[in-house]
Amino acid sequence: MKKIAIFISGRGSNMQAIAQEVKSGILQNLCQIVLVFSNNCAAAGLQIARQNGLPVGCIESSGKKRAEFDLEVINFLQPHQPDYIVLAGYMRILSPVFIKAYEGKIINIHPADTRLHQGLHAYQWAFENQLETTTITIHYVNEGVDTGQIIAQQTVDLKGAATLEEVEQRGLQAEYALYSKTLAKIFAEPHSITAP
Ligand code: GRF
Repeated sequence: MKKIAIFISGRGSNMQAIAQEVKSGILQNLCQIVLVFSNNCAAAGLQIARQNGLPVGCIESSGKKRAEFDLEVINFLQPHQPDYIVLAGYMRILSPVFIKAYEGKIINIHPADTRLHQGLHAYQWAFENQLETTTITIHYVNEGVDTGQIIAQQTVDLKGAATLEEVEQRGLQAEYALYSKTLAKIFAEPHSITAP
C-alpha cells in the first residue's frame, strides 16, 4: 500500500476524484492519502479534503524563494513519509532540492500533450486554436516545466465545444478517469512504468 501526498493550489477537483477512487474505487487497497497539501491555505480544495476526512496541511508560499519554501515543505512532509507526491493543480514550480528529495516519485497531470504545450492555460490554448482534440498527459516531474517522462495520455474530442467552459468540462472528465487509472497501474506494478 503506497502512501501518497496530493498537492493542490485551488479547486482540487482532481484531488477529490482521486480521493473517491481511494475510498471505494480502483485505488482502494493500493494507496492511502497521508496528506493533502497546499501552498495556498485558502484553497477551496483543502475544505473539500477536510470534509472528506483527509489529513490536510498548508504553508503559504507567497513571497518566499522557491528553494527556501520547498525545504519547508520537505520538512513538513517528513512525519507523513509519502512514497509518492501527486500534483493535482499545484501551481508552483518545484525546485531541484524538492525534485531530488523525491526523485522519480513526483507525478503531475497536464491538460494538454506536454510535447505541444507546457505551463498555464492549456484549455484556453486548445480553445483559442480551435483544436479538434487535446491530449491529457500524466508525467513524471523533472526540473523543467511539464518536460518530464510521459506515463500516460488520453485524447479528448473537442469538436463542437462552443465555449472555453465546455472544453474544460470535457477535459476534466477525462483527467479524473485517466489520473486514477494511471496511478493504479503505477502502484500495482511499480516496475511496469519506469521512473526516469
Ligand atoms: C487541472 O486542469 C490540471 O490538469 C491542471 O490544473 C487543473 C487543476 O484543477 N494541472 P483542479 O484543482 O484539480 O480542479
